[in-house]
Amino acid sequence: MACSNIKTLSLINHKILSSHLTVDRKIGTASVVPVPVNIPQTLSKILPDSATLTLKNNPQTQSFSVINKPVERKEMDSVPGKFGRFGGKYVPETLITCLGKLEAEFNLVLHDSQFQEELRTALRDYVGRETPLYFAERLTNHYKNNNGEGPEIYLKREDLNHVGAHKINNAIAQAMIAKRMGRTSIVAATGAGQHGVATAAACAKLDLECTIYMGAADMEKQSSNVLLMKLLGAQVKTVEGSFKDASSEAIRGWVGDLENSYYLTGTVVGPHPCPSMVREFQSVIGKETRRQAMDKWGGKPDVLVACIGSGSNALGLFHEFINDQDVRLIGVEAAGFGLDSGKHAATIARGEVGVYHGAMSYLLQDEEGQILGPHSIGVGLEYPGVGPEVSYLKETGRAEFHSATDQEAVDAYRRLCKLEGIFPALEASHALAFLEKLCPTLANGTKVVVNISGRGDKDADRVFHYKHDLTPCEIVY
Ligand SMILES: Cc1ncc(COP(=O)(O)O)c(C=O)c1O
Repeated sequence: MACSNIKTLSLINHKILSSHLTVDRKIGTASVVPVPVNIPQTLSKILPDSATLTLKNNPQTQSFSVINKPVERKEMDSVPGKFGRFGGKYVPETLITCLGKLEAEFNLVLHDSQFQEELRTALRDYVGRETPLYFAERLTNHYKNNNGEGPEIYLKREDLNHVGAHKINNAIAQAMIAKRMGRTSIVAATGAGQHGVATAAACAKLDLECTIYMGAADMEKQSSNVLLMKLLGAQVKTVEGSFKDASSEAIRGWVGDLENSYYLTGTVVGPHPCPSMVREFQSVIGKETRRQAMDKWGGKPDVLVACIGSGSNALGLFHEFINDQDVRLIGVEAAGFGLDSGKHAATIARGEVGVYHGAMSYLLQDEEGQILGPHSIGVGLEYPGVGPEVSYLKETGRAEFHSATDQEAVDAYRRLCKLEGIFPALEASHALAFLEKLCPTLANGTKVVVNISGRGDKDADRVFHYKHDLTPCEIVY
């Protein structure tokens, strides 16, 4: 929207940041300079009903009337870090200062035009954005009924990003924040290796030291990514256990050197501001999708589908559309060997609310609150929790959640290879697998967007050798 045409400015989820009043990001970043009356320091007080605004994209100073009530809330974390009862900062006191500094820096960069310009350039010229919204014609035909009717399937091609997944959107932005904060070394944990490779690449580009923690079994399953991380100059540390154990170890490594190191979280979990920060940097996926849908068919998507590990690719796609109640949001979890097998990663379907890695959320845990080991053939889905915002979407009913088994994901991987010539990551294959159940229920012409969160080269060997109907005892990793 051209800022200069705006006659009325709605303050959506307005926030006061030092002496600036920041406003709805849909109409660009604007700051009140100077404010004709003092801006009160809390949101509950009255804001000025008119203000002189200098718009960043339009250096002329212009007057606008300001509607003084927040309209429908865009952000669900308008109490910073809380999504209903989920989220928070359940950390030792020693970490509070450090998280506070991170939150302050995050709030600054959100409204810092130089940072935003550098990030836009990096996303365009280094990551390769924007990613296409691809009409999958043969997949669409596959789901047509006998009358030749069915939904239209579009794929959001995050697999085409540099280093092969959505993870780089967040890794590059956070590495830039770390550099601004004067940190010299980055620590991160990875499951499938995609976040590890993305972080290692960002660190190479920005001349930062990089240490990646990874579970021993995951290193074997995703060995090609381990090689890439090492080639990119990262130190890869082996951790006994899986991704959750690697995350705990990475946090320990970070806490040991808070002055110099930066814990670069790869998904929407952890204490505030981590979930909000990762979601913000991934929300480029949904923003592009809205624009591309408008260009392609002159409207919005009807249904968005994404796999849920912890939720970063899903929230990246969904967040832009959360207030569009006519857009269905569908998250697909990993059912592994089946929801009743005890070998799955379906936190939303089978989890309970608890606290883990610094935040309150749904978790896979036993009666005593001990975390249960998750399983999925999509290694990046093997986390025993989901992000607090995902938990909130479940609790409020705004999003629907379903699951797909290992077998269904492998079938979907193979289907996309054969029908479209695209290798989807096994994680994203869970989202694709759900189309089998979803498509027969949809009206002709329904526009469905599936997030292809990453490329599946890393999984080719496992898919090629996967045998039908393996039991938990038979599977060899
Ligand atoms: C390609 C890909 N998709 C999805 C995920 C799951 O993470 P999230 O739910 O945060 O998107 C991962 C995690 O490693 C991944 O590598």
